[in-house]
Amino acid sequence: MNDFTYYNPTKIEFGKGKENNIGAYIKASGIQKILLVYGGGSIKKTGLYERIITSLKKSNIEFEELSGVVSNPLLSKVNEGIALAKNHGIQAVLGVGGGSVADSAKSIAAGAKYDGDVWDFFINKAKIADALPVFTVMTLSATASEMNGNAVIINDETKQKYSIASVLVNPKISIINPELMATVSQDYLAYSAVDIIAHSIEVYFTATVHPHFNSRIVESIIKTVMETTEILIKNPADYDARAEFAWTAIQALNGLTPAGTGGGSFPNHMIEHALSALYNVPHGAGLAVVIPAWMKWYKANNIAQFQRFAKEIFNTQDADEGIIKLENWFAKIGAPVTLAQLNIPREGITALATNANALASVWGLGDFYTQEVIAEILKKA
Ligand code: NZQ
Ligand code: ZN
Repeated sequence: MNDFTYYNPTKIEFGKGKENNIGAYIKASGIQKILLVYGGGSIKKTGLYERIITSLKKSNIEFEELSGVVSNPLLSKVNEGIALAKNHGIQAVLGVGGGSVADSAKSIAAGAKYDGDVWDFFINKAKIADALPVFTVMTLSATASEMNGNAVIINDETKQKYSIASVLVNPKISIINPELMATVSQDYLAYSAVDIIAHSIEVYFTATVHPHFNSRIVESIIKTVMETTEILIKNPADYDARAEFAWTAIQALNGLTPAGTGGGSFPNHMIEHALSALYNVPHGAGLAVVIPAWMKWYKANNIAQFQRFAKEIFNTQDADEGIIKLENWFAKIGAPVTLAQLNIPREGITALATNANALASVWGLGDFYTQEVIAEILKKA
């Protein structure tokens, strides 16, 4: 096992009705005025919006609102939020929604404490030195944004989907009430399951060392996600399955699984971000297409771990069969597995490879994942 630093300052409040305490939690942090960030309206349809407002008012928390965060969240919306925060003496940002809302809240929190362009943080031109406190109430479990310091945003002008990572934007408190997730569509349930599996396997396959403990946590995450997804497809209101799904999603990207592995890379995410940036593909849908293609291409680099995956997850000795079975499972739950299913033409591959290679360079992977290599992977999709 390699040396590591593990630090995760997010407090998780997990369970039924916890969202009704959000005002009290914020008040207890000494905050009086917040920016409330949310998406396209699901929280109004479900009545959650009213409950959040009631809770804030009960604790005398003043608030401004920023609505309309879209899936594949945009820099232009983040900049709107930063302006609101700077002009209204905002002391904290509360995101109520899925990963896109949480990521926008984090980006606003960082930008509100910076005199320059917040995009500087995404292209490594500047390092986050301060941020407003972030709180989240999650309505969809997939990204683990609720317990990490990452945020992924699309620059609407340059069509780059890039990320930040700073412990300064880890949420102070995240509220996870699995009941709030019962209304997530079947499509997004499938995309979420794929995303959680993606977070688990990136380092599992690319790390330099593979402590058994880490491999076993990853395998447990994957098995639990597969089981609970199948239960939730049949019964979206199954509380226990929803709760296990939510807690499992968090473990997949809160720093736990890479600790001691020497760290790995996130090539599937790197390539998928190009699909989202250029074709506005939902993150998990893009991953379902990229992952099997990448696995087929990468397998020979770590055959032992691919054989282990096949055995532990699908009870087969054959690495290739493990990949095919995962691909089939993605298709079975309703995720796309080819570029054609995403309406991405073969002629689009060159631009996707250029876009992904630019991100590879930002992530220090540009020499390994050249445009040619990325195009070769995408041709398998
Ligand atoms: O906007 P509303 O109306 O709320 O609708 C949302 C949205 O259309 C809807 N939704 C959310 N909760 C719902 C619901 N509909 C009904 N009932 C509910 N309870 O679901 C749609 C998708 O929401 P979104 O937030 O986009 O999904 P997700 O949580 O999967 O977030 C995806 C984004 O997170 C990024 C992705 O790249 C993508 O941009 N990621 C963030 C990461 C992180 N911060 O660590 C890591 C991930 O790898 C990922 O890259
Ligand atoms: Zn992801």
